[in-house]
Amino acid sequence: MTPGSRLHDPDARPELLDAERILAALSPGARRAIARLEIRAKIDSTNRYLMREAATGAPSGTLCLAECQTAGRGRLGRPWISPFGASLYLSMLWRYSTPPAALGGFSLVAGAVVADVLRRIGAEGLALKWPNDLLWGRRKLGGMLLEVAGEARGPSTLVVGVGINVRMAPDQGRAIDQPWVDLAEVLGGPRVGRNTLAALVADALIDAFERFGREGLTPFLALWAEFDAFRGESVRLLFADREIRGRVLGIASDGALRLDTADGEMRFHAGEVSLRREVEADVGGEGRR
Ligand code: BTN
Repeated sequence: MTPGSRLHDPDARPELLDAERILAALSPGARRAIARLEIRAKIDSTNRYLMREAATGAPSGTLCLAECQTAGRGRLGRPWISPFGASLYLSMLWRYSTPPAALGGFSLVAGAVVADVLRRIGAEGLALKWPNDLLWGRRKLGGMLLEVAGEARGPSTLVVGVGINVRMAPDQGRAIDQPWVDLAEVLGGPRVGRNTLAALVADALIDAFERFGREGLTPFLALWAEFDAFRGESVRLLFADREIRGRVLGIASDGALRLDTADGEMRFHAGEVSLRREVEADVGGEGRR
């Protein structure tokens, strides 16, 4: 058996999600901060579910995980392929007194703290593509989807969804439209169970929600920069109807991407915009790995 085939032994069963095990693996502070923990075998989307629950008064600190999603969502309206037991599908709801507009920077915070969790469990060579695409050797390992609701002057509700490919068989990943990788390959084996991983991610998010509420984006910028995949690179920024070319100068204090363009320095906020290396294709092939 080759190392690759051992990682994808079709008989290997995924560690099923278990609330008791997740709670036991959390820090005491995070355990206190979790108001509600829901684990679903199947759901449309953990993010969509928490946005619905937010509208009916779900408390700050509601955490939802699912074994599979039937309508998993990625950034820019893309689908997030979510086969049973193959990945982590986790969303968390947090309430702030500030206006929704003040929460945009959390997009980078989520990427930085999740990358940091994975580095701490042994994943080397991780990179972030602004704002929060989690890459390994230019292949996608995970991503975050932020959704915000609220009044223009506050309060607001933030739902952060995290998807990490944990152990995905080639068949399961066939529908993914870009090169991808799973944590089993990054770590050289399935070293961390999904319950432990869920607890580590939830712990890090809670810590970040609290610190971001007190101090904003500033304390997270250095961590994000440690994973910056594109600094100094020539890139294209794709909008729905145009593209802008330039060289990445880094991230501004408000989380905007700084680009050196033919018209001078320009800044862009994460929204309906997608970043590509100058030489990178716009769309990947079917299920490339
Ligand atoms: C991206 O496009 O990179 C973001 C992917 C986010 C996927 C996660 S999985 C849990 C949560 N529920 C969703 O429907 N999406 C997010």
